[in-house]
Amino acid sequence: MKYILANWKMNVKKDDILAFIKKSKIKPKKTTYVGIAMPTIYMGYAEKLRKYSHIGVQDVCEYTNGAYTGCISAQMAKDVGAEFCLVGHSERRTHCNESNAKICEKIKRVQEQNMIPVLCIGESAEEYKDGTTNQVLAKQLAECLEGVDKYSQIIVAYEPVWAIGTGESANVYKIAEIVEFIKEQIKNILGESYPAIVLYGGSVNPENCANIARHSRADGVLVGGASLDSEKFNAIIKSFE
Ligand code: PGA
Repeated sequence: MKYILANWKMNVKKDDILAFIKKSKIKPKKTTYVGIAMPTIYMGYAEKLRKYSHIGVQDVCEYTNGAYTGCISAQMAKDVGAEFCLVGHSERRTHCNESNAKICEKIKRVQEQNMIPVLCIGESAEEYKDGTTNQVLAKQLAECLEGVDKYSQIIVAYEPVWAIGTGESANVYKIAEIVEFIKEQIKNILGESYPAIVLYGGSVNPENCANIARHSRADGVLVGGASLDSEKFNAIIKSFE
């Protein structure tokens, strides 16, 4: 199975979603899991996207329910039809101060609702330059996956922070090494037989996707900017089929 996930971030309004639906010619093969992480507030449009895509959200609160003004719980996301949830995206780590411990709680809330958590990890530009990528990833994985349910599927997206939204995607052979490293770590934490699924994200576009599909060893991609255009997103889906 290949996983091609879109992260629409805070970049769409209802007219954009309607235009995407109108233009879209997406028809994935049965062996491709297409998913769109929508802004939760627009989940009302999910039904029209479901004929070719699974629908997810971009974040949920770490608490189950209660007096948390402005927050959206995993229960609520599930209630309006979310099937998966991005957790720990670097933009949330940076702008919303999310720690690995908080991200771990979010994964647990998502699992409790039988949704698939998509855990995002990745090193910063400085960490990349310092050569500490593997240490950073190992720490993120160990702390974010501590005590999570080993019997339900978690997807991990490797997204180097310096590659997100910059147009500068990581080298495919380097991605391949890191994907293997991440899979090893996941198996160390969740068990040798755990079906580790690792995606790559960071400036994936119709120009570089074929190379990524062929050489990166990733089980798919998490796409930001290029997923907003249904033709570009479709080209990326096709390159993995
Ligand atoms: P990008 O974003 O494809 O625009 O780099 C990827 C992401 O943030 O998930």
